This record gives sequence, C-alpha cells and structure tokens, in this order.
Amino acid sequence: MIRTVTSTPYTDQKPGTSGLRKKVKVFQQANYAENFVQSVFDVVEDKAGATLVIGGDGRFLNREVIQIAIRMAAANGFGRAIVGRGGILSTPAASHMIRKRGAIGGLVLSASHNPGGPDEDFGIKYNIANGGPAPESITDAINARTLDIDRWLTVDAADIDLDQDGEVMVGDMPVEVVDPVEDYAALMETLFDFDAIRASKLTMAFDAMSAVTGPYATEILERRLGFAAGTVRNGTPLPDFGGHHPDPNLVHAHELYETMMAPDAPDFGAASDGDGDRNLIIGRHRFVTPSDSLAMLAANAHLAPGYAGGLKGIARSMPTSAAADRVAAALGIPAYETPTGWKFFGNLLDAGMATICGEESAGTGSDHVREKDGLWAVLLWLNILAVRGESVDAIARDHWAKFGRNYYARHDYEGIETPRADALMAALRASLATLPGKQFGDLTVETADEFAYTDPTDGSISRNQGVRILFTGGSRVVFRLSGTGTTGATLRVYLERYEPVGGDLDRETSDMLASIVAAAESIAGIAQHTGRSAPDVVT
Ligand code: G6P
Ligand code: ZN
Repeated sequence: MIRTVTSTPYTDQKPGTSGLRKKVKVFQQANYAENFVQSVFDVVEDKAGATLVIGGDGRFLNREVIQIAIRMAAANGFGRAIVGRGGILSTPAASHMIRKRGAIGGLVLSASHNPGGPDEDFGIKYNIANGGPAPESITDAINARTLDIDRWLTVDAADIDLDQDGEVMVGDMPVEVVDPVEDYAALMETLFDFDAIRASKLTMAFDAMSAVTGPYATEILERRLGFAAGTVRNGTPLPDFGGHHPDPNLVHAHELYETMMAPDAPDFGAASDGDGDRNLIIGRHRFVTPSDSLAMLAANAHLAPGYAGGLKGIARSMPTSAAADRVAAALGIPAYETPTGWKFFGNLLDAGMATICGEESAGTGSDHVREKDGLWAVLLWLNILAVRGESVDAIARDHWAKFGRNYYARHDYEGIETPRADALMAALRASLATLPGKQFGDLTVETADEFAYTDPTDGSISRNQGVRILFTGGSRVVFRLSGTGTTGATLRVYLERYEPVGGDLDRETSDMLASIVAAAESIAGIAQHTGRSAPDVVT
C-alpha cells in the first residue's frame, strides 16, 4: 500500500525562527509541502510505532496539508496520529497534546501572526517530544535533508473526515480525531483559580482575531468562567482571518485598544494571534507592554494555584526589557537571557531552571507546556486581578513604584530589500568597537556587542543574535533582523529606557524614548540605509 513518489529538492526550505514559512503559492508547488514533511520524517528517529500529533491554526491550506501529512505519516511507519477536530490545534494545545499523549512529536501548521489566505502565508513547524519547537540541531538536519531529498512516501487512502471525532484507519495507522479544546481547558483549570475568577465579576473583551483561539476562548472564558456572551470577539477561525493580520499588537488589534480606552471600557482586554501562542494585554485605560506583562506576571504568579510554590527562575529573550530581571533579583531566583525564539527556553524549562518565560514579541508562558501560550497569560492576569481586587492600572503603577519602570517600544521597518538591511547590520557590526564612551545627546555608550548565547544545559552556542548598545544608567537599543518574515527583510529596533524608583514613572513612552530613538538613528544610519524616515509599525 505504500507508494514512493519521486521528487527533486527545493533549495528554499530552511526553517526560520519558528518553522518553515512561505507564501501559500510557494507551498502549492508540486511536492513542496510533501518534500518538507518527508524531510522532517526522515530526520525523526524511532518513529516506527510512535504517536504523531497533527493540527494547525485553520488557515488556508490547513486541511489539505493535514490530509497529506496523515497519509505520509502512515507510509512512514508512525503508529498513531492524533488530529484536532476540524484540523484545529492551537500551538500551546498541540504542545500539551504531545506531552499528554507521550507523542514523539507533532506537526503544527501555522504561520503564526502572519496573514492567511490564497495569497498570504502558510507554515509547517515540527515540535519534539517535550512539546517544544525543534532545536537548531534538528532544524539544521531537516534543512540538510530538504536539499538532497529524492522521494516521499504516502499511502493510497481517501481523505478522512476531519470534522468527526473518533478513530479511523489510514493504511495500517489509526488516526484519532479529537476535541482540540478539552485537554487544554482541563490543564488551565489545574493552574488557575477558576472559582475566584468567576466570583470576581470582572468584565472583559477578548479578540480572537478570527484565528485559532476562538473556540478555546469561548469554551474557557464564556462557558467555564461565566463571562458574558460576546466577551469573545471574532471567535470563529477563518481561513483568511477575515482579511486581517492576526497579530495582537496596537496596530492590528486597534479595535480592542479603542474599546479599552473608551469611557465605558471593561476591566480587562486581551487578544491572541493566528495560532494562539501570543497575547496582548490591555487593562481598562492601561496598555501593558509584553515585557512589563512578563515582569508583572512573574511578580504575582504565586497568587495562582499552579505557581503558589514560587518560581524556579525567569527567562526572557535578549531584546525583551530587563523589567523581569528586577523581579527575579527581588525574588532571589535566577534570570536568564536567551536569543529570540521560544525554542531557546525549552532546555531551561526541561531542566527545571526556569518556570516563567517571556518575549517582547508578545509571548509569555511557563513550564506547563513548551510553547508560549496566549490564553495562559490571559488567565494568569485574570487570576491575579481576581485575587488582588485591583485594576490593571493600579497593579502596573504599584509594580513600577517598587521596581522602577522600563519604558519600552519596538520600531519595525518592514519589507526592506535584503541587501540594504544586511548592509546596515554589517556597518553596525563594524562600528561596535568604536562606540563605547561615545556620547549621543544625554546618552553615553557603556558597551556595544553582538549577542551570543551559551545554553547552560548543553553548552551549545548561538552567535549573531542581535546587536545591543547599552547606555550608562540601564537604557539600551537593540538592532536585529526578523527571522519570521516572508518578503524582504524586517529591521527591528528595540528601545528601552530605565527609570529608577522615585523617577519619572508616569510619562508617555514616546517622550521618554525620544533621545534613544535619535541615538539609534545616529548609530545605525537607518534612514540612509533603508530610505525610510519612520518605522512601519511601532509596538
Ligand atoms: C516567533 C517565535 C518567537 C519569536 C518571534 C520573533 O513568534 O515563536 O519565539 O520571539 O518569532 O520573531 P522575529 O520576526 O523577530 O524573528
Ligand atoms: Zn504565534
């Protein structure tokens, strides 16, 4: 029953920060998805008889690629496939499913916060047995395999009914179609005090952005926690996300922002992205940056049952503000600084060195799974609000009064021609040695370097992870090229200014960062290199 299909390699299948992401049209080329899936399967050892989890964020091509992957898994000797009903599994739910069912790994079909539809993006990511994204050693091996692949394996079998729970055979392999929400919702009930949240009578708005979190948020927030019907907006996953960019930031979730700034705003507002791993947190009349959210969640996590025993450590990606480090110091626990990409947290979580992790790119999570988790962050915030009985704004102000405030923003320059972006980074690297001691307005450069990370658990080294310029007093600018885009290059400029306890804690972020923005321009020559005088997106 196994059929071997002859194929030739594509040379552009190198996984980026988070799997292989390309335009749908690229994935629709003959053998393109099949080559990549087969390359993954060729790299997975001990797959004979093992369980594979398959699911995605519901975007255009999701169902087609799931059917292909099921047949290929059967031909490659997997013992069982577990698929979310409708082809749906949020990234954190897939991570949990892999762990709970002892699967060898999973295919997560998503391009995260990138838009979907026939002319937009699709993606395939492989997660390993701990539930987390495959580390670089594995993605490098997958990439190597894509370059010399000459065949893929499948079985002759019809498409299965993805909308019908239960078990069917594909070739010799049972395929289980399961409720995508149930196990995940049950896990959340073990971590958070649902009774306290229910009793708090908080009001909220959650924007699922027509992406995967709709069914999860409706079940958990409206059915289990009793929030009013309509709390979840845009709650039906659509293949093109309703034409929107499912990226929960102030630009793409501006309707939620407006709701939360209105006179009649609810207590709490949140949004998640295409595949459900990111979060945006906006209290009534108070936006919380992802970096601050990480710090505030870590400082208050003990108020939730799942974290009542305290945290083992806090990890953040390098461009994320240092606010969480101050919390770690106060708690007397280690703080880790990793390169951008959730995969770098996996080893720290597995080793029990960190409990909570977060990134400026709107990802927060803990050791309950091995992915960042949008709804988890929402529920931890709700648990904290319910126990403290204070507003988000009051909690934020209290936090800054205690730890000082890391004013923070990210400026993105999108769709730059790649050679121009590379030239900017090269010139910046070449200037690093000359920067220390130099003065830019009221700022003096203390150190300038390119971030490299040595994983404390296995000693592996990741170099070239972004240029950072540290100024005296704890302010900083970081330059990095995005690893998740599908067109040209995106330059990210991360700006941070620390105001100590007793300082200016209640000012507009843009005012507080103005001198750092100017310094970033002088240091990197952004306008000259990119031809742009302003960023496309400020978050
Ligand atoms: C994905 C990863 C995140 C990472 C982000 C960075 O979302 O899952 O862990 O922070 O990409 O994206 P960038 O475009 O900055 O490389
Ligand atoms: Zn995502």
